[in-house]
Amino acid sequence: MQFLTSEQKKYYLENGFLIIEDFVPNKICNLLMERAHHLIDQFAPNENKVIFSTIDQQHANQRYFLESGDKIHFFFEQHAFDASGHLKKNKYYAINKIGHALHDLDPVFNCFSRSHKIATLVKDLNVIDALLVQSMYICKQPLIGGEVTCHQDSSFLYAEGEPVIGLWFALEDATLQNGCLWAIPGGHTATLKSRFIRGEQYETRTEIYDHTPFAEEKMIPLPVPAGSLILLHGFLPHMSKENLSQKSRHAYTLHIMSRSNPYARDNWLQRSKDLPFQGFF
Ligand code: FE2
Repeated sequence: MQFLTSEQKKYYLENGFLIIEDFVPNKICNLLMERAHHLIDQFAPNENKVIFSTIDQQHANQRYFLESGDKIHFFFEQHAFDASGHLKKNKYYAINKIGHALHDLDPVFNCFSRSHKIATLVKDLNVIDALLVQSMYICKQPLIGGEVTCHQDSSFLYAEGEPVIGLWFALEDATLQNGCLWAIPGGHTATLKSRFIRGEQYETRTEIYDHTPFAEEKMIPLPVPAGSLILLHGFLPHMSKENLSQKSRHAYTLHIMSRSNPYARDNWLQRSKDLPFQGFF
């Protein structure tokens, strides 16, 4: 069975991204959003108050972040806390994202992430013996959802040979107002500009290979209705603006790669021996 048409595959190869509308049924979008709400329900914000921000990278050297590769951890928006460290909003509206092993540890996200439909799609992309390496639930809540600066996903999840592929599922409408994705069509044909690397201890650094800035003037917005899937090549420059609107923009993302392409041992995201990367079945 095939899921992608030859035209869709050609479009993906040429542009580095592909939008597939109506991929996730409405009731499944709702189910995933309800599950994320339940997970946040179980989370006591006093335990960990780690902010995720691509602007100042203040999460980068925190143990809670660096250990999240095989856990379900919660990260706050940059403006979630007041000067004395208290949440300014109800926790449901202050979380930036949940990551990074929902697909292995949570039964609902596991079931969705390993659905036959996604496995078939990944096979169509010629990913041999695919591994699911990362998942994130991104809340992008109204008036607080932070900007994600322009980046290539392979900077964070580097694999030798074929780059990782991102699967970005819109669980709600992603619009110009609430912070939809933006990308540079064809931008994946350039080289990787940098890598975010984990050191021997709990520290990270960014190695820069190309100092020229991304051609952000070539960015186009990718607004999509709820239920859409956007495929993203690991080298494709993409970003999203902050959400200053009154509407949330919930999304779920998965990153996959072939088992035959060695996953870099100095990637920030690592697994313990107890929970190695796994495939679809
Ligand atoms: Fe990304």
